[in-house]
Amino acid sequence: MPEKQILNKGPAVIQWVSSKSGASPRRDYIPTRIRMGNGVELPFIGLGTSSVENSNEATEYSIRTALDLGYTHIDVTPGTHKIVGDVLKEYMDSGKLTRQDFFITTKLPCISHSRANVATALNSQLKYLQLDYVDLFLVQSPCGITIRQTAQGRNKFEPTNYSLPETWKGMEDVYNLKLTRAIGISNFNIDQITTVYCNANVVKPHNLQVEVHLHWPQKDLVVLCQSLNVSLTAYAPLGSPGLQQTIDQRGDTSPLDEPLVIYLAQKYKKSPAQILLKQLTQRNIVVIPRSVNAQHLRENLDSLNFTISDNDMEALANVRSRGRIYTYTSRYPYFLCLFNFFFNFRRNHPEYPFNENDDE
Ligand SMILES: NC(=O)c1ccc[n+]([C@@H]2O[C@H](COP(=O)([O-])OP(=O)(O)OC[C@H]3O[C@@H](n4cnc5c(N)ncnc54)[C@H](OP(=O)(O)O)[C@@H]3O)[C@@H](O)[C@H]2O)c1
Repeated sequence: MPEKQILNKGPAVIQWVSSKSGASPRRDYIPTRIRMGNGVELPFIGLGTSSVENSNEATEYSIRTALDLGYTHIDVTPGTHKIVGDVLKEYMDSGKLTRQDFFITTKLPCISHSRANVATALNSQLKYLQLDYVDLFLVQSPCGITIRQTAQGRNKFEPTNYSLPETWKGMEDVYNLKLTRAIGISNFNIDQITTVYCNANVVKPHNLQVEVHLHWPQKDLVVLCQSLNVSLTAYAPLGSPGLQQTIDQRGDTSPLDEPLVIYLAQKYKKSPAQILLKQLTQRNIVVIPRSVNAQHLRENLDSLNFTISDNDMEALANVRSRGRIYTYTSRYPYFLCLFNFFFNFRRNHPEYPFNENDDE
């Protein structure tokens, strides 16, 4: 079914803001949040916190600047829980924010896929975050890992024996314990989403976080999720220009340099990044761009405040798809520290989610 028809059936959209310029021919107001299947509201614009520079100072600066600008949604990357927790505590202690003002997403590490370990992992993250609950907790990857010690005392990584439905039971447990307001999955393919969805005893996934951007539009996945009422979050929504090396190696341009995007930026008097982010939020997809630049952070948050016409949305949808950036088959400069040890191993994992040749 075409994506446009599905949009009407997707999660209800609430809390609207006025469109100042370029008002939509269809709408006078623009949503700032999406309502997930259980009624919890997820802000359309979030802050990604992974740091290519691997600098705690840069991450902290980014979080503080974002909160001061009015960001309410933070996607916590592994390794940044303490930084996020310390800043949030300071803002709450000083009365600048209350717990209800912000939305925190964290992820289950691949080494915690047994049902019992899910709660242990989340409780440990909550300790670093200095919070009683998170707002969204995602299974980071379908590839569960067990670490065994060899006779020589070395660590050996093996695929875990726990099935995805079993891990999901652990996710339902933490949801029922109210350690999180919503639960979801990340980096799962269509078959894996369907497996979890069909086997979920109590709670269906509320959100899927995957790579989506102009050059990797994930049209089939978007249609599936919107028809199942699973909200979507796009990571690398700008095409991860920080990983330019990867893009250069493939001989591709970054989505930010795409001629149509530059043309539309001039037409709408917006930046190329704002065109890319708006294209996604207008498809009802939440975005979590990362930035350590105050001007970029402001631009990204302001990207909601205009509307791209139907014709221009169609033109953007027709830009040639290039392929995913995050394949997890080579060493990237950041991401889960532990994952760095076994990227190549993951390709051989029975649950490795991506097809080498998948392209849209
Ligand atoms: N679930 C998962 O497995 C997974 C995997 C990857 C990422 N993520 C999440 O998704 C977030 C975003 O992904 P990402 O960091 O790979 O990609 P991204 O957000 O698409 O790109 C980040 C890059 O874009 C630049 N940028 C940001 N705003 C800009 C603007 N307005 N104009 C020009 N450049 C701009 C940033 O540089 P400046 O700092 O100079 O602005 C940075 O280099 C991550 O931080 C992480 O939280 C999740």
